[in-house]
Amino acid sequence: MNLSKSIKEDFINLLVQKYNHKEIPNSSLIPVNDPSVLFTTAGMHPLVVYLLGELHPLGQRLVNVQRCFRTDDIEEVGDTIHHTLFEMLGYWSLGDYFKELSLEITFDYFVNKLKFDPKRLYSTVFVGNTDVELDRIAIEKWKELYRSVGIEPEVWDGKDFNENTRIFPLLKTENWWGPAGETGPCGPDSELFYWRGKEKPDFRRFVPWDTSNMFIEISNNVFMGYNKTKEKTYVPLVQKNIDFGGGFERITLISQFKESDGSLDMKYSVYDTELFDTQRTLLEELSGKSFQDSTKEEIKNLRIILDHMRGIIFLLTDGVIPSNKDRGYILRRLIRRVMRSGKVLGIEKSFIIELGTSFFETYKLQYTHFESQLESICEILSSEIEKFNKTLDKGLRKIEELSEEKEVITGRDLFYIFETYGFPCELSLEALDVNGKDRLTIIDDFNECMRKHQELSRNSSIGKFKGGLSDSSEETTKLHTLQHLLLRTLQLTISDEIHQKGSNITPERLRLDINLDRKITQDEIQTIELTVSEKINEGISVDKFDLPKNEAERIGAEHEFGQKYPDTVSVFVIGLRENVNINDASRKDYLSAEFCGGPHVQNTNEIVSDGKRFKILNQEKIGSGILRIKASLV
Ligand code: SER
Repeated sequence: MNLSKSIKEDFINLLVQKYNHKEIPNSSLIPVNDPSVLFTTAGMHPLVVYLLGELHPLGQRLVNVQRCFRTDDIEEVGDTIHHTLFEMLGYWSLGDYFKELSLEITFDYFVNKLKFDPKRLYSTVFVGNTDVELDRIAIEKWKELYRSVGIEPEVWDGKDFNENTRIFPLLKTENWWGPAGETGPCGPDSELFYWRGKEKPDFRRFVPWDTSNMFIEISNNVFMGYNKTKEKTYVPLVQKNIDFGGGFERITLISQFKESDGSLDMKYSVYDTELFDTQRTLLEELSGKSFQDSTKEEIKNLRIILDHMRGIIFLLTDGVIPSNKDRGYILRRLIRRVMRSGKVLGIEKSFIIELGTSFFETYKLQYTHFESQLESICEILSSEIEKFNKTLDKGLRKIEELSEEKEVITGRDLFYIFETYGFPCELSLEALDVNGKDRLTIIDDFNECMRKHQELSRNSSIGKFKGGLSDSSEETTKLHTLQHLLLRTLQLTISDEIHQKGSNITPERLRLDINLDRKITQDEIQTIELTVSEKINEGISVDKFDLPKNEAERIGAEHEFGQKYPDTVSVFVIGLRENVNINDASRKDYLSAEFCGGPHVQNTNEIVSDGKRFKILNQEKIGSGILRIKASLV
């Protein structure tokens, strides 16, 4: 690891000693100071407040190496240069120097410190648009820097290339950085590329912004002069900043494998660098496959495993837990992709813990927060693996069935499999071996189903928060109390394990989603309707109590698991036994109790007037184990 260690050290030393920067610590992958992103995707996230003008305790010139995690490149992982987790060399000027010195520093690092041949470097800059003009300052500075090493650079005119073309003004899609989330600091940028070919680049075949990876992007100088607001406007920042990011793994790749003429064979990837020596050897042993002499597909899967396993260990040590949401979902997806790649490679043995432990041991030397976390993260990993093994078997069986039954498989089918078995769409696609246009159509279709589903559950959770009511009319209020009665009756008639999973109430009907993986039988419906009607007729009182949350939980009040509630909650109790103090109550002392904001009737006999009767209107299975019931007074 001497080479990679010195790459980092040289970078920090240059910035600290020659350019007067102060080294700042490495931050968590769970963003601090920037709620606009799920992960720390660049070294600038922990610095957002300082980029926006707050004074940093260490001054205006900062430097570090930051662990970063990105999902936007996840489909690229497996090629020669992309990662999910990577380390970024970063330096910043917070309202101190601007474009010129920063390009000078960048050039100094690559050409003088790392001894990258400047003839292999190519620069891109922002071409300008109606808001921000062509970056003439960056162009002039690059010209000066290239000329200082005897290169005569020409600026691309957008059409023709010649052998001196070296500086490329490009559109906002290429040369504008950020914000990473919806809002935040951003600005035009200038990227630096390393040409890896044997011959000089033939621009008719390769350009820096293509996907061939013949030009490797090694760094980005962001001229952070704007703040994008919620209203989508770009407000110029009073304090102009520099945000530099350099790709540590890519720089290591070039440094380690470049030939004496500076070229870099396409067979070398970031996974072949010394950064992965131990784990590469281990994985080769475990899989019996070699990183150099295997099929393209096998090499891709080997690389995916290395990338994702490293990412998994970093996410876990930063406290991310596998789940179905946000960061947890990304982690779950990485683990599942690793397992899937393992299957594709035919690795019989379980390998994840062993490989993960190996990454842990390597990085714990550098990252002190890893300390004493090994046991707990292995436990989390093991239980996740066990869960997914079950899912995999079930999901794969279902897919086999499906492909026998149907000629054309749609995104909706795969969404059903995802919802019912938790089997991810991409794995289904791989199992079905669907490629090209069909794959895109299915993904679109799947995403549309997902979008609709999310909208539904978002509405129902907003609904839940407001008690699921469309209004607070008399009719809706009656149906609301009826809903509590119905839930309790379902528990009494079918199972105590039934809970509310969503609700929506209008003046015409109530809708209740519950966890039940079957429909209710006719007999049960009759019993339920009868019981609810009896309770209505009995004239039972409905009372509201404001209780500390733990007290409300202790008395057994219904609430949605995992939902965030305030410290004090209101609880609606139907039929609290006389002479029982709510603070001493338990489930046997009342008919129903629920965390709820109301409104409700005060006595169940207010529910029915005009000779109406409670009736279950219909029921429908809406997804994995959820039954939707509609009911009303008719
Ligand atoms: N924030 C910029 C990037 O990620 C520079 O670090 O490219």
